[in-house]
Amino acid sequence: MAQHERYALIGTGSRAGMYISAMSGTVLGAEHVDGIADLVAWCDVNPGRLDVYEREVVETGHPGPVRYGVDDLERMISEERIDRVVITTPDFTHAEYVVRALRAGADVVVEKPLTIDAESVRRIGEAIAETGREVITTFNYRYSPRNSTLRQVIADGRIGRVTSVHFEWALDTVHGADYFRRWHRQKENSGGLFIHKASHHFDLVNWWIQAVPVRVFASGGLRFYGAENAEARGLGDRPERGTGTSGDPFALDLAGDPRMKELYLDQEHHDGYLRDRDVFDAGITIEDNLAALVDYDSGATLSYSLNAHAPWEGYRVTVNGTEGRAELEVVERGAVLIGEDGRVVVDPSMHPDASVVDEVRPHSERLVVQRHWEGAEVVPVPEGIGSHGGGDAYLLDHLFRRVTDDAPLGRVAGYADGVRAVSVGIAGNRSLETGQPVLIRDLELGI
Ligand SMILES: NC(=O)c1ccc[n+]([C@@H]2O[C@H](COP(=O)([O-])OP(=O)(O)OC[C@H]3O[C@@H](n4cnc5c(N)ncnc54)[C@H](O)[C@@H]3O)[C@@H](O)[C@H]2O)c1
Repeated sequence: MAQHERYALIGTGSRAGMYISAMSGTVLGAEHVDGIADLVAWCDVNPGRLDVYEREVVETGHPGPVRYGVDDLERMISEERIDRVVITTPDFTHAEYVVRALRAGADVVVEKPLTIDAESVRRIGEAIAETGREVITTFNYRYSPRNSTLRQVIADGRIGRVTSVHFEWALDTVHGADYFRRWHRQKENSGGLFIHKASHHFDLVNWWIQAVPVRVFASGGLRFYGAENAEARGLGDRPERGTGTSGDPFALDLAGDPRMKELYLDQEHHDGYLRDRDVFDAGITIEDNLAALVDYDSGATLSYSLNAHAPWEGYRVTVNGTEGRAELEVVERGAVLIGEDGRVVVDPSMHPDASVVDEVRPHSERLVVQRHWEGAEVVPVPEGIGSHGGGDAYLLDHLFRRVTDDAPLGRVAGYADGVRAVSVGIAGNRSLETGQPVLIRDLELGI
């Protein structure tokens, strides 16, 4: 029986919504969280976003969490007797809050990525060693049924011992573009997509093949977004921001989406945070095309690529083994289509041409296993609940109940998993800088 715990949350942006609504009983159902997880305090640098979430929590019949300033994190933890702090702030702030929360006497749940560079991983490791407290990074992708089923196929030995993995992730001009509009677009804020986005993917591979990455060689660059690329392609003058413009498929209109409006547009006057800046701005320092070769301690190799301006969104992964091969193909959005107003229609099924597009690339997932000397077999993927391919609800349930043994899948990620997931991206970033392969042990990440 899980014990009753008191939670605080830092950073009430869009990702925080999943945790807040879970603790208010609206995601999992009250029976999952009542008497287990109470959200009693929170902080954010923007009081307007706290107001939005406070209204929603109070509407569920729960008391509004007590509000603290970010400088008063330690006082919040002691006065409110906090057991666990959930950190959902921008990536570059994670390490500071993790360390402060641990030292003030709380365990930590931190959104991925754990942090963005080697020095801050070491700081977190020191604080854990000093306090003996727990830090969990949440990896929701492990929980999506298709990814869990691939784990099961490999664990069951159906393809033998894994020798190599080929993994391609395509982010489209809706989702991919979004990393170039706000804080993610600066490497010092997000570590770039090798850390911010691919830590999900590297965690999946580490977990799928149950191996530890040891060496990384990377290549990549900013080849589509950013001012220089726009100029080279003759895109002409660009607006500073998407809201208020028309006829531009790269423009995000905050006013056109009630949630975006109340969380971001209406709160700009507090902190000047523009959620909809132009993806072809000058000063973008992250890559939009990335590739990596990763060696594992098991002898397996990963070849990985990420593209952030694809016309469709999804991923393909091939796992080669001594007895056969598993192939997972996922289409999350078959096309990015433009409506009559020149803006993107985010849900292609709402577009008049949807049926034509869907015939070629329908929203789909397909897991195929083929053993040597046998025909290919489609492996059924059970239906999921929640978002992120059906992962979030299971993740939240395990998180709040502090489940540690999720045999046989082992989906619950520990601190070492969080470090290993960012270790590939940290090594990848160093390889991009030096042009050389990087040994992960040379990063001295303390695991
Ligand atoms: N697991 C996933 O699939 C997933 C999905 C989305 C985001 N995330 C992660 O969640 C985190 C938040 O992402 P988001 O999209 O909600 O970002 P966001 O910018 O929308 O929200 C961040 C919030 O933190 C606040 N903030 C900024 N600086 C702060 C500071 N120094 N101290 C306290 N609060 C501060 C902002 O005001 C904002 O309310 C990121 O680490 C991101 O990587 C994970």
